Amino acid sequence: MAGGAVVNTSGGKDYPGRLTIFVFFTCVVAATGGLIFGYDIGISGGVTSMNPFLKKFFPEVYNKKQMKGSANQYCKYDNQLLQTFTSSLYLAALVSSFFAATVTRVVGRKWSMFTGGLTFLIGAALNGAAENIAMLIVGRILLGVGVGFANQSVPVYLSEMAPARLRGMLNIGFQLMITIGILAAALINYGTNKIKAGYGWRISLALAAVPAGIITLGSLFLPDTPNSLIERGHPEAARRMLNRIRGSDVDISEEYADLVVASEESKLVQHPWRNILQRKYRPQLTMAIMIPFFQQLTGINVIMFYAPVLFETLGFKGDASLMSAVITGLVNVFATLVSVFTVDRLGRRKLFLQGGSQMLVSQLVVGTLIAVKFGTSGVGEMPKGYAAAVVLFICLYVAGFAWSWGPLGWLVPSEIFPLEIRPAGQSINVSVNMLFTFVIAQAFLTMLCHMKFGLFYFFAGWVVIMTVFIALFLPETKNVPIEEMVLVWKGHWFWRRYIGDADVHVGANNGKGAAIMRA
Ligand code: BGC
Repeated sequence: MAGGAVVNTSGGKDYPGRLTIFVFFTCVVAATGGLIFGYDIGISGGVTSMNPFLKKFFPEVYNKKQMKGSANQYCKYDNQLLQTFTSSLYLAALVSSFFAATVTRVVGRKWSMFTGGLTFLIGAALNGAAENIAMLIVGRILLGVGVGFANQSVPVYLSEMAPARLRGMLNIGFQLMITIGILAAALINYGTNKIKAGYGWRISLALAAVPAGIITLGSLFLPDTPNSLIERGHPEAARRMLNRIRGSDVDISEEYADLVVASEESKLVQHPWRNILQRKYRPQLTMAIMIPFFQQLTGINVIMFYAPVLFETLGFKGDASLMSAVITGLVNVFATLVSVFTVDRLGRRKLFLQGGSQMLVSQLVVGTLIAVKFGTSGVGEMPKGYAAAVVLFICLYVAGFAWSWGPLGWLVPSEIFPLEIRPAGQSINVSVNMLFTFVIAQAFLTMLCHMKFGLFYFFAGWVVIMTVFIALFLPETKNVPIEEMVLVWKGHWFWRRYIGDADVHVGANNGKGAAIMRA
């Protein structure tokens, strides 16, 4: 991740300042960053279920697909190259996020966003004009580089620009925009699939240029964050900027002083990567690896990437399968709103445990419904009402994810790292997420072919493991000021053994800290 202090949300302090027009503008840019990521997630599945696209680039898959009835439904899309089309983006994002971290730190967040947007634009153009698989894959890689840069810089930029008390909500606002991007992609696929001349897939892929254009142009008008300006040796410009974004009549001296201190402190840490390996950071390191890993092992991207393909596998005709993707997309957006409004009241653990249980039951039901109709041979048809039941349980599953592992998979890691290991911790979080997004994208269609309906039981098994993991190992972090987070670990039945008394430095809020430890 980019260096610089991201003073987090959960808010020990509340500096004066209102939601100025500048800060509002940063929200819009962050939103387009989320839209781009979401659009990419949602577009590929629909495109890979379109016949003209398959005929042109993946004729083998197309021919298999035409063999209706007798053919094994589980295996008709099993093709490494087809999966590479989807997954290449995430591998590129994984690699580029490390470079993006340096660009973000050295030249600032703004130019990192600009680079991301521009790479995106080129990728979208290449994909829309693709004449062969190489153009397709290179295009996807460029989009991936764009995602890597955007996902690295936009959230950092947002955290640094937003007034402290709005940071938590903005964090999930970013996830909300991801889901809107996914939904937009599903709707566009539904529309472009109707184009008789067969070039609909080109429009779907080329339209990624719209959000990309917005972020590229938008970034040019954005000011740099005060944190980045301080870090790059422009303290006066930083003070002016802070004044501008909080309001010219606002006293920013305390916030400014804290920014300077945070920046100085983060400069003192020479080896954040070695630091995070210390015993006292074992809880945070564990979460930075396990939370994104588990988020992907819920199997959510099976639905997000391949919903149309999956629904078509289940016997829905082309149009109906794209429509089903629109339905799951809508459920995803609305269920995410639930978390926006409940996460600070109900807390993280309740959402994780409830969402996990809901996903578990839905996956078991979906797996069983498919098993009954297709068995292990994969041969069969689904009557309409039956298929509707499958869609219903898939929606219940998506809703469970959308108010638990979806937003919390990003929020919780972002709020548990102390400043000295925050950049390293965030890098681990993002890269583990991208790595397993890649793995699922690359392996799903093959897994479906080999594990058949058992694939749903496979993910259900992981959901059991992760839900137990949360119940046992994740302490509640709602409303805990970030500077006091160490007390949460110190008060936890398991993690307390990793934290010595000397590691606990409680700030001004001693009384509250003690209360957290007792709870
Ligand atoms: C995940 C993505 C997923 C999306 C679905 C995000 O939190 O990181 O992998 O596709 O949620 O809404």
